[in-house]
Formats: sequence, C-alpha cells, structure tokens
Amino acid sequence: MARRLAARDHDAIGEAARVLATGGLVAFPTETVYGLGADATNAAAVAKLYAAKGRPAFNPLIAHVGDIAAAQTLAVFDRAAERLAAAFWPGPLTLVLPKSLGCPVAELATAGLDTIAVRLPAHAIARALIARLGKPVVAPSANRSGHVSPTTADHVLADLADRIDLVLDGGPAPVGLESTILACLDGDVTLLRPGGLPRDAIERVLGRSVAEAPIAAGTDEEALLAPGMLASHYAPRATLRLDAGEVRPGEALLAFGPTVPPGAARAATTLNLSPAGDLIEAAANLFSHLRELDRAGIARIAVMPIPHEGLGEAINDRLARAAAPRK
Ligand code: TXA
Ligand code: MG
Repeated sequence: MARRLAARDHDAIGEAARVLATGGLVAFPTETVYGLGADATNAAAVAKLYAAKGRPAFNPLIAHVGDIAAAQTLAVFDRAAERLAAAFWPGPLTLVLPKSLGCPVAELATAGLDTIAVRLPAHAIARALIARLGKPVVAPSANRSGHVSPTTADHVLADLADRIDLVLDGGPAPVGLESTILACLDGDVTLLRPGGLPRDAIERVLGRSVAEAPIAAGTDEEALLAPGMLASHYAPRATLRLDAGEVRPGEALLAFGPTVPPGAARAATTLNLSPAGDLIEAAANLFSHLRELDRAGIARIAVMPIPHEGLGEAINDRLARAAAPRK
C-alpha cells in the first residue's frame, strides 16, 4: 500500500527522494497533473513504472528536470527550442528534441527512440523533489492506463494505491490539464499534444504558426493524448525472428529465462533479457540489448518466446514492431 505524505511535512521531500534513489515509485504534484515518478536513469525502476500504469505498450515518457542546464545534458536544443524554453520554462510545456549523445536516461523510458521529451515543471514540490534526487525524473500522469489524469492525491490513490510506494500530497494540481507537447525537430516546430500552454502564446513567441502533427486516419483522442505512440518506433537494423524455438546458423540469440534453446551454443552472440525469467527485468533490458546487438553488427536475431502476461504484453508489442518488415 502506498504511503501518503503531506508534502510540507518535515523531510517529506527527502523521504520521497530516498524512495526514488532506491528504485521506488513516487507520485507527486506538478502544476499540470500528478505525475508518477521514477529515477529516469534506472531502467528497472522505469520498467516497474510501466507495470504500475498497466500500459499494454511502452509509450515514451517525459523526463522532468530541475533547470535548463540539466535539460541540455539530455537533449539537443535548436534556436526555436531555446526560445521556447526561455519563454515558458518552468511551466506546462514539454519539448520533444533529439536525444543528446550520452544521454543518461534509460532506453526504456524513451521507448528506444532517438528523441526525448523534456519538461521543467513549475510546481515547487516537483522542483524540490527533482533537485533533492539530483537526477531527471520520468513521470507519466499518475493514473492507470486508459483512465483520466489525476489532479489530486486522492485520484492517484484511487488508481494506484496498491502499485506504488509513496504519494506526496501537495493539494490540487493548479492547471489540471497535461502539458502542451511541442516537437522541435529538423528545424520544424510541431504541436503533438494541446495542453496547459495555449497555442497562441507559443506562436507569439515564435513569430509564426505552429503545425499540428498529422494524425493517422482513424485515430482517436486517445492517440492524440499519446503522441509518442505515433512516432516511428525503434527499429534495429537486424532482422528479428520471434518465438524462436532454436538458434539457426548465423543468428544471434536474444534469450529469456534460464533455459537456452537448441543451437544456442552456435549463436554469434547471446544476450539474455532476464536469466531469471523476470518480465520487469526483461523490459528494462529490451531496448538496450537490441541496440547492443545492432552495435555488434548482428544481421539476424533469434528471439525466444516471451510470456504474454504483465509487461510481457508490451515487450511482445515492441518486438513485433521491431520485427515488422521495413519499407
Ligand atoms: O503535464 C504533463 O505532461 C504530465 C505531468 C506529470 O508532467 N505528464 C504526462 O505524461 O502527461 P504522459 O506520459 O501521461 O504523457 C506524455 C506523452 C505520452 O503520451 C507520450 O506519447 C509523449 O508524451 N511522448 C513522450 N516522449 C515522446 C517522444 N520522444 N516523441 C513523441 N511523443 C513523446
Ligand atoms: Mg497520461
């Protein structure tokens, strides 16, 4: 059961930072909605966060930072991004930018994408928590997947009490609407999600109009609220063969669990998502293992079957996308 601490209590922030530092999950208020926070650099904590949300797929997360300098260690700012950050941070604006080289945020948090969403929140409690941890905090809205975003600690507990460690109660979130998400990529600024910062304020600062992301035909509001799901997913160069019961000549092995399949001895390389067969550990390793096999120049990867329960659903979703033929 989640503990609830009044954010203004003596050392509530210190306790919340300790929980994050040891891989726990802490819900906290921001000016938009309550977020469910995890240490962004801890892949296992990020995997736990996805499990708590009950998302059937890895929708990339926003990295929350304490100041612009911290944001610049995670992402590459172009002129437009610099102007937007100077005008609206701290505040209800999220920028999707190219990931920096050596970005310390776990691959799982960005769902393996080469871009990262960053936000500098204005809420004093959010800022104090991030400052105390001294690392970026990934935080989706603190609701179960498919439910509406929470604006009070009670909302958070109603959805997640049995799945998180702590909620910092800081009263109602003042904006009550998620942050506006803008992508600043390839010289263009695109509105990915309308939110707490109105479009006209943005256009005034940029001195031009902002294009809306093309929404695929047949997608609904849910898709608009999850723009990362529309972004082209991470695709390894290697060809993936899923549910492999054996390793064929020339293949590398992406294993799961303690038992290796026939032919494993001849695998070019073997990486195990979780030798113990733990789905949370497997999720934490998924994108980094795929990248490592790519870096090793592997052409074909046999992927052992992954159970379809818990985080296995999201892992299988991502593997199926990664295995899909490219244009
Ligand atoms: O106001 C907010 O933004 C709240 C508070 C807690 O900060 N957070 C929030 O997070 O709304 P979440 O995960 O519920 O929504 C963030 C959205 C996701 O739907 C995801 O698709 C999108 O941001 N996103 C994250 N990274 C992205 C990326 N690299 N490219 C495109 N979209 C991205
Ligand atoms: Mg959300």
